[in-house]
Amino acid sequence: MMDTRNITRSSEPGGYSSGATLSVMGICLDSDSTALLSQFVKSTPLVRLEGELHAYGGETDDRVLDRITQIAPDICLIDLDPDRRLAIQTAERIRERSEDVAIFAVSSNAQPDLIIQAMRSGCSEYLIKPLGQDPLLEAVARVGARKREKGEQTVAQIVTFIGAKGGTGVTTLAIHLSASLAKLCGRRTLLIDFHPDLGDVGLHLGLTKHEYHFYQLVESVDRLDAELLHGFVASHPSGVHALLAPQVFEPDHPVTPLAMGQTVELLRSGYDFIIVDCPPGLTEANREILQRSHQVYMVTVAEVSALRNTVRYLSYFSQRAYPREKIKIVLNRFSKRGTISEDQIERAIQRKIDWKIPNAYQEAIRAANSGNPMEQAQGSELARAVTAWASSLGTKPAADEKKAKRGKGLLSLLGS
Ligand SMILES: Nc1ncnc2c1ncn2[C@@H]1O[C@H](COP(=O)(O)OP(=O)(O)O)[C@@H](O)[C@H]1O
Ligand SMILES: [Mg+2]
Repeated sequence: MMDTRNITRSSEPGGYSSGATLSVMGICLDSDSTALLSQFVKSTPLVRLEGELHAYGGETDDRVLDRITQIAPDICLIDLDPDRRLAIQTAERIRERSEDVAIFAVSSNAQPDLIIQAMRSGCSEYLIKPLGQDPLLEAVARVGARKREKGEQTVAQIVTFIGAKGGTGVTTLAIHLSASLAKLCGRRTLLIDFHPDLGDVGLHLGLTKHEYHFYQLVESVDRLDAELLHGFVASHPSGVHALLAPQVFEPDHPVTPLAMGQTVELLRSGYDFIIVDCPPGLTEANREILQRSHQVYMVTVAEVSALRNTVRYLSYFSQRAYPREKIKIVLNRFSKRGTISEDQIERAIQRKIDWKIPNAYQEAIRAANSGNPMEQAQGSELARAVTAWASSLGTKPAADEKKAKRGKGLLSLLGS
């Protein structure tokens, strides 16, 4: 009987939730396949191109493998034709290092023994040249489906908070939601302060003495391992882990938005949720994290300027083909007696409000000043609203969730 182990174990990181893009990396692809791949990436929000390598990772050369480990793509497309032996060896070595990446072989040779060899090396798909949009889409969808099927999450969902303007309550809500996810739902939660300076997550959580910040972590991303990571993360009594913003102005961080995104991506293992507190605006860094996010909470308030900006953000998201369900509208400081009604707001933004958080100034201030959001806000209106929100987000999915239908991938190619 044929050895099919590689098929089932090829892509099992789990935690992939609809709305997130899968990252793809090409290895030694010929120019036609490269062209098709970049066309494909442009045509669907399902995938994004994470990079291309023009060398195999042979036995004596770890650089290619290190690069792949560092980027940790969901899918590697590897062209077998330039040097089959080296390509197969590379696939084996990628598989040895990680169970989490799906490897697609690309070749113009469709002999069954070669397909079997690719499969044994850890490839879950065998795509025959010329590469076609449809087979590629099907293969990518299978990776997404397998990840979704795995009920228990092993890698974090990225949930990003962004305000329609400054002061809408992004930091307050990100902190309260994180604390509820950790303490009430028992979910492993990391809160990242994405502000390049003047971030105040540390202050709200009473973690001002913490030495390290997120940007230092980004600078060290190529040396990152679990131990190093541990030293950077601050722990709050609620159970939330936090990566804070720099405490002083450091206008020239030598970090790129891509490295910031990749760092967050690396941090996904070991957490159920990564909550990101973004400064307002569509900076390059924000766009990077928004694209990688599984959910985006757009925090707005019932004021004309904030609602006008909300419409602008929503139009940007729809132009960029963000899945509609990925963006959630949070109306903060909601009051039934407000001058702009809920109905008027929904008509103005042409969307339903997903979450309403009551105006509770005293509680918000008390929680922020105490450094312990959960303790201070217990039983309050603010806490009740956030608890409902956290349980809807953080309750573990039912194990018997109906499995998505899917094809057999590489096996079907062999007619078995
Ligand atoms: N639901 C709320 N009710 C009343 N005041 C709030 C609420 N949420 C936040 N605030 C207050 O609004 C101010 C701005 O909040 P903050 O979280 O710092 O906003 P942002 O991070 O968007 O700039 C703070 O004083 C905070 O205490
Ligand atoms: Mg803030």
